[in-house]
Amino acid sequence: MTHAPKPSSLAPDQTDGLEGIVVAHTQLSHIDGTKGRLIVKGVPVEHLAGEMCFEDAVAHLWAGQVDEDRAEPSLQQVFGKARQSAFSVIPTLLSCRQEPLSRMDRLALGLAALPITPDIPESIQITGAFPVLVSAAARIASGKDPVKPDPSLSTAADFLRMMTGAKPEQWAIDGLNRYLVTILDHGLNASTFTARVVASTRADVKYAVLAALGALSGPLHGGAPGPVLDMLDAVGSPDNAEKWISERLSGGHRLMGFGHRIYRTRDPRADVLKSGLRALAKTERLILAEAVEEAALRGLKAAKPNRQIDTNVEFYTAVLLDALGIDRTLFTPLFAMGRVAGWCAHIAEQKRTGKLIRPSSVYVGPMPDL
Ligand code: CMC
Repeated sequence: MTHAPKPSSLAPDQTDGLEGIVVAHTQLSHIDGTKGRLIVKGVPVEHLAGEMCFEDAVAHLWAGQVDEDRAEPSLQQVFGKARQSAFSVIPTLLSCRQEPLSRMDRLALGLAALPITPDIPESIQITGAFPVLVSAAARIASGKDPVKPDPSLSTAADFLRMMTGAKPEQWAIDGLNRYLVTILDHGLNASTFTARVVASTRADVKYAVLAALGALSGPLHGGAPGPVLDMLDAVGSPDNAEKWISERLSGGHRLMGFGHRIYRTRDPRADVLKSGLRALAKTERLILAEAVEEAALRGLKAAKPNRQIDTNVEFYTAVLLDALGIDRTLFTPLFAMGRVAGWCAHIAEQKRTGKLIRPSSVYVGPMPDL
């Protein structure tokens, strides 16, 4: 056996991490990484999140893409019915009650067990099921019984009610809507790309969403906000921020909630979420978060002068969800609860317009002696 020459870097026509490679045309969302803009179907994210609830934003994203055959009633009503149907998977989740599973494991398990009926678009059944699965995963993991959905409520209101067992206050419903709308869709991020790869094989929507969930679970994607709160806990007080950040950076660690593959400036979603926090009381946590953000931006500028690393969506996701009383173990499942609508839109678009996604690789392993 001989060894093929190992290139010190990828060939010039290859790009590590597919950075800058276009693999789809989409009508769903556009990111301008230089100007720090996110456009969702023609509307800037700050308008979408400021003016629409989750159902209206999904209807905007899905129009002409996902559920064009759906006659009235409203998306709020069909999601309500989907939540009721999804409650049929609760016995499966309860049968694993004693297993040492994470919230994400329980969400994936519930999704895999979700019965899909042929009469309603799969995207509606799956997106509608997420609030039931996420709230049930949270309650079962903390030893409580899941709460039945109330189909007359909005997605955000019913999720909070199912999670806490109590009627939510309007500020919490508004805060959650702002979060879910802000994270609805975001170009070809790792989980959306994963969903499109699976959809390109003509697999069922459910399997494309399960695969996307796996991609989302990693800390470089949707798993960052939990560690952001861990960081705030570790810093402890605003006057410790500068020292903690500089030690972390000089130890070669990454700061969670900062940096982005596309944005070379501030992630606009960070400010959409930060402005949602203004409606809430200025807590000690928010004062600490602002001090840590300032110290981190200074530290990153000094440590990586050639790379513009700024605040990303996950930083203020952590602070907002914490202010809404949501436990950090639920942050990634909750991200999935909003993003699933974006995945479904991309899956539909890929199936309608795309081709099997099958890239190539450069072989650098051993070769047989011929
Ligand atoms: N803290 C410290 N250094 C960083 C950070 C950070 N948050 N982000 C990038 N760098 C450095 C990195 O160490 C590397 O330095 P060097 O060239 O000296 O080795 C350089 O910047 C380039 O890093 P990269 O990983 O090649 O760059 P990327 O554009 O692929 O990184 C990222 C994007 C999100 C993976 C990265 O910024 C990161 O790890 N951030 C922390 C995790 C995080 O907040 N993730 C949530 C992302 S936003 C949600 C989403 O849209 O998916």
